[in-house]
Amino acid sequence: EKDGFPSFMEKEIHDQPEAVAQTLLGRSDVDGKLTLDEMRIDADVLKTVNKIIVLACGTSAYAGQVARYAIEHWCRIPTEVELSHEFRYRDPIVDDKTLIVSLSQSGETMDTLMAVRYAREQGAKTIAICNTNGSTIPRESDAVLYTHAGPEIAVASTKAFLAQITAAYLLGLYLAQLRGNLFQGQIRDILADLAKVPAKIAQVLANDGQIKELARSMADTRSVLFLGRHVGFPVAMEGALKLKELAYIHAEGFAAGELKHGPIALIEEGQPVIVVVPSPRGRDSLHSKVVSNIQEVRARGAKTIVIAEEGDESVRAHAEHVFYIPETTTLLAPLLATVPLQIFACELATAKGYDVDQPRNLAKSVTVE
Ligand code: F6R
Repeated sequence: EKDGFPSFMEKEIHDQPEAVAQTLLGRSDVDGKLTLDEMRIDADVLKTVNKIIVLACGTSAYAGQVARYAIEHWCRIPTEVELSHEFRYRDPIVDDKTLIVSLSQSGETMDTLMAVRYAREQGAKTIAICNTNGSTIPRESDAVLYTHAGPEIAVASTKAFLAQITAAYLLGLYLAQLRGNLFQGQIRDILADLAKVPAKIAQVLANDGQIKELARSMADTRSVLFLGRHVGFPVAMEGALKLKELAYIHAEGFAAGELKHGPIALIEEGQPVIVVVPSPRGRDSLHSKVVSNIQEVRARGAKTIVIAEEGDESVRAHAEHVFYIPETTTLLAPLLATVPLQIFACELATAKGYDVDQPRNLAKSVTVE
C-alpha cells in the first residue's frame, strides 16, 4: 500500500497533487460558482459573521495561518488563528456572530475538540475542516468541509496540510461569494489558478533530485533556521516543524521581518538558513524585503538556501542553493513552496537512518489534552 515508495511519508508527499485535486473536485461549477452542499449553516447566518477564529494544533494550525491571509483578503472578515489548547484559557470573546473554523486531519485531536465544544457553548457557529469521515470533531460541529486527501498514515502530516489550505481557501471564496466581497469573475479566476496547482506540485516532485542531494549533505547539521514573510511565514514554521519531528534537528521558523528584533544574533559562520521567497510579481515590496533579509543573514556568515519562483534570477547572487517552484499567485504559493521543505526533512531524516513514518515520542492523533 506504499505504492512502491520506501515509506508512507514519501508516498503521501507524492499523493499531494491528487489530494489538492480531490479537495477541489465537485465544489464549483463552470462559471466559478462555489457549491458547498455540505455547508449546513444558514446563508443568512454566514452573512452576519463578524469574526472568524481558526482553531487547530501543529501543522494544521500552520495551514490555518496560511488561510488567514486569504480569508481576510477576500472576505474582509477579521480572522484570528489560535492554538486550540491556548484558546479556552484566555476567556476569548466569542458569540453568535463568531464563526469557528477548526482544522484537524484526524478529527480526534482532543485539544481542538474541547476548544470547539467551548466555542459552541458560547453560541458560535462551528465549521470543521477535516480529513477523516465521521470523526468526532465534524460530528460535534455545525458543518463540515472534508479534505479529500485520502488516509494519512505517516505520523508527520504532509498531504493533509495542502488539502487543508485548499479547503480553507474554498471556504474563504464561498464566504466572499455569499457576502458579495468578490465578483464572480474574480472567484472563477482564483479557482482556475487553484485548478492548475496539482500539475505544478507534480512538477516540484519531478525535480526533487537537487533538494534530496542537499538534504543528504546536511545530515550532520545541528540547527536550521527558516525565514518567510506573509504566507511564507507559516510555510517557514511548517518546514521547521517537519525537520524537528523527522530528523530531530533543532529548527525554527521566523517571520523574516522579525530577524533584526533578535533572532539575527543566532547567525554565525555556516548557519544554514532556508528562505521562502515570495513571487517578484506579487504585491507591495514583499519580494525585495525578503531579498534584503537574505543579504543580511548572508553578510553574517549564513549559508543561504532559497526557495524562489521560476525565473527569479535576482536571488541567485545571494544564495548557495536555489530551488525553483513554478509560478503562481502569492496566496497559492504555499501549496508549492511547502513541498521542497517536506522532501528536505524526509530525505535528511532518512539519511540519518530514522524511521520517517514513526518519529520518536509522537502519535498520529493526540487524543489526550
Ligand atoms: C505534524 C503533525 C501534528 C498535527 C497535529 C494536529 O506533522 O502531524 O502537528 O498536525 O497534532 O493533528 P490533527 O490535524 O489531526 O488535529
